[in-house]
Amino acid sequence: MTVDTEFTPALGDHRLTPFYDLAIALLTREGVWRRRLVTQIAPTSSDRILDVGCGTGSLAILLKQRTPDIDIIGLDPDPVVLARARRKAYKRGFTIDWRNGFLSDDIVEQSRPISKVVSSLVFHQTPLEEKQQMLAKMHALLEPGGSLHIADYGLQRSKLMRILFRRTVQAIDGIEDTQANADGVLPELMETAGFADVTETQIIPTLTGSISLYWAQRL
Ligand SMILES: C[S@@+](CC[C@H](N)C(=O)[O-])C[C@H]1O[C@@H](n2cnc3c(N)ncnc32)[C@H](O)[C@@H]1O
Repeated sequence: MTVDTEFTPALGDHRLTPFYDLAIALLTREGVWRRRLVTQIAPTSSDRILDVGCGTGSLAILLKQRTPDIDIIGLDPDPVVLARARRKAYKRGFTIDWRNGFLSDDIVEQSRPISKVVSSLVFHQTPLEEKQQMLAKMHALLEPGGSLHIADYGLQRSKLMRILFRRTVQAIDGIEDTQANADGVLPELMETAGFADVTETQIIPTLTGSISLYWAQRL
C-alpha cells in the first residue's frame, strides 16, 4: 500500500502503527483523558460530529458507544490507521463514516453542517502553519453555536512534565512541531481562528507529559 508521507504517522513511524493503541493505553492514562473528553463533548442524538485525525478510531467509537444515534465522521490522512479504525468499529457493530484525507476545503464543504468538531493527539504532530489552517477550517465548518473539543499535549507546566514530554513525545515526533504545544500555543491559536470562550478545561499529568483538554465555541 502506498503511504502518503506528508504527515507524521500515529506513533511517529509507520512501522510502529500496529503498536499505537497499546502504547497510548499504557503510557498516556488513556482511560482517564478519553473518558473526560467524552464527558466534555457530551454527545446527543442530534449531533453530527467530525473527528479530525481520528487515527485508529478510539474516540469516535467511544462517542458512538455513549450515544449510538450520533452521526460521526472520522477523518485521517493515513489509510493504514483508518483500516484499523474500520475493523474496530465493524467488530462492535458501529457505522461510522470513515474518510481518508486532510481537512481540505472539499471536506469542509462535504461535511457541513457539523455541530461538534473533536480532535485528540493530532495538533502536537503538525507544523505551526498547519495548526493555524486546521483551526480556521474547523471554525469554518462548525454551525453557529457549535463547539470544538481538543485533547492534546498543551503547556508543560512543571520541570517533570517537560522532561517526560521531551523524552517520550519529542523523542518520537521531533521538536519542531511539538514545541509550540508544550509552550502553550493552542488557546491563542484557537482565538486567532475566531473561536470564543476558549478554555483549558483539564490538565492531566501522564508519563509522556501533561495532556490538556480544551473547549471553545463558534458564535
Ligand atoms: C497520535 S495520532 C492520534 C489518533 C487519534 N486521534 C487518537 O486519539 O488516538 C495522530 C493522527 O493524526 C493524523 N494526522 C497527522 N497529521 C494530520 C493532519 N494534518 N490532519 C489530520 N490528521 C493528521 C495521523 O495520521 C494520526 O492518525
